Amino acid sequence: MPLSTNRSTLTQFLIEERRRFPSASGDFNALILDVALACKGIARAVAFGELGGVMGNHAATEGGTINVQGETQKALDVLSNEVFIRRTEWSGNLAGMASEEMDLPYQIRAQYPRGKYLLVFDPLDGSSNIDVNVSVGSIFSVLRAPADVEATGRDVIEADFLQAGAQQVAAGYALYGPTTMLVLTVGDGVNGFTLDPNLGEFMLTHPKMQIPADTHEFAINASNSRFWETPVKRYVDECLAGKTGPRAKDFNMRWIASMVAEAHRILMRGGVFMYPRDTKDPAKPGRLRLLYEANPIGLIMEQAGGRASTGERPMLGVQPTALHQRIGLVFGSKNEVDRIERYHAEPIKVELSNPLFVERSLFRV
Ligand code: AHG
Ligand code: MN
Ligand code: MN
Repeated sequence: MPLSTNRSTLTQFLIEERRRFPSASGDFNALILDVALACKGIARAVAFGELGGVMGNHAATEGGTINVQGETQKALDVLSNEVFIRRTEWSGNLAGMASEEMDLPYQIRAQYPRGKYLLVFDPLDGSSNIDVNVSVGSIFSVLRAPADVEATGRDVIEADFLQAGAQQVAAGYALYGPTTMLVLTVGDGVNGFTLDPNLGEFMLTHPKMQIPADTHEFAINASNSRFWETPVKRYVDECLAGKTGPRAKDFNMRWIASMVAEAHRILMRGGVFMYPRDTKDPAKPGRLRLLYEANPIGLIMEQAGGRASTGERPMLGVQPTALHQRIGLVFGSKNEVDRIERYHAEPIKVELSNPLFVERSLFRV
């Protein structure tokens, strides 16, 4: 068994980072360590699989419970949400929480002191993959509570969480794959930690992660292609056209259906991920959620030299309007995200192959 003695633990990394801010109280580090412990707990629950008795839908009814997203909750969605709450709420570092699995903001219970941070999370991302033993993960975002919340310790309301992604103090994800990893940004680059199962500690294995600016790998759920908007269709068509098309190179495609796993692949070797706004359901402007999926992954991408966008503009500049707001999401290698934004900005080109628009046709272009 390899020994990890030559590597920093997550605790050591956080303490050494904090030395750059001599006035910091340590609350923030304590919070991150609590989140890391929550992730270790979820990793174990996931690893036990069928043996843990937590597979399948949440049991409240035979068909499971439905969350605010209108999605059936898995037992592990609910358990992971509980683990996040129990591991973090006691410490006096949080003013409140919000999660994919809770309709309303979570109030820190009366027996615990309240603190200055807000924790927003997707306790289990990719949970449709749980029952088929494919990688899943947890995503989290740390925001500063508004000043009056911090001063008065009042209950949190939805509006307290509606902060643009650029305001995030920290963001990260844990990936429960063949190894368990924690990838974290505290606004000074992105660092990856691998869980040493012997020690139960996250060890710094991937310092200063950087995403290559160019790629030949893209990820999109192509079953939605008939609902895509023109710029997305154009981008994907050009990738598919390969060497003989306008991009003059062949592309590879991946779709794991766990965004957190796609984000990790992209951090490791580049790529672009798209879950764009489409016309499938006019009530849903995109599939993924701004506050606990797009923003934390967006900050990680930007901090690793990549980009995150709505397709039209930088994700981290978007002013949220609702806790569970959905949004089109494109992230990954910088030059590809730039290109996709450019296609959205360009006036829609009428396809010249359409007989209605060719020369001497009914509608001249
Ligand atoms: P969650 O399990 O937290 O609801 O998120 C699932 C998300 C994301 O992880 C993934 O990329 C996407 O849903 C998959 O969507 P499709 O089922 O449309 O492929
Ligand atoms: Mn998710
Ligand atoms: Mn989820």
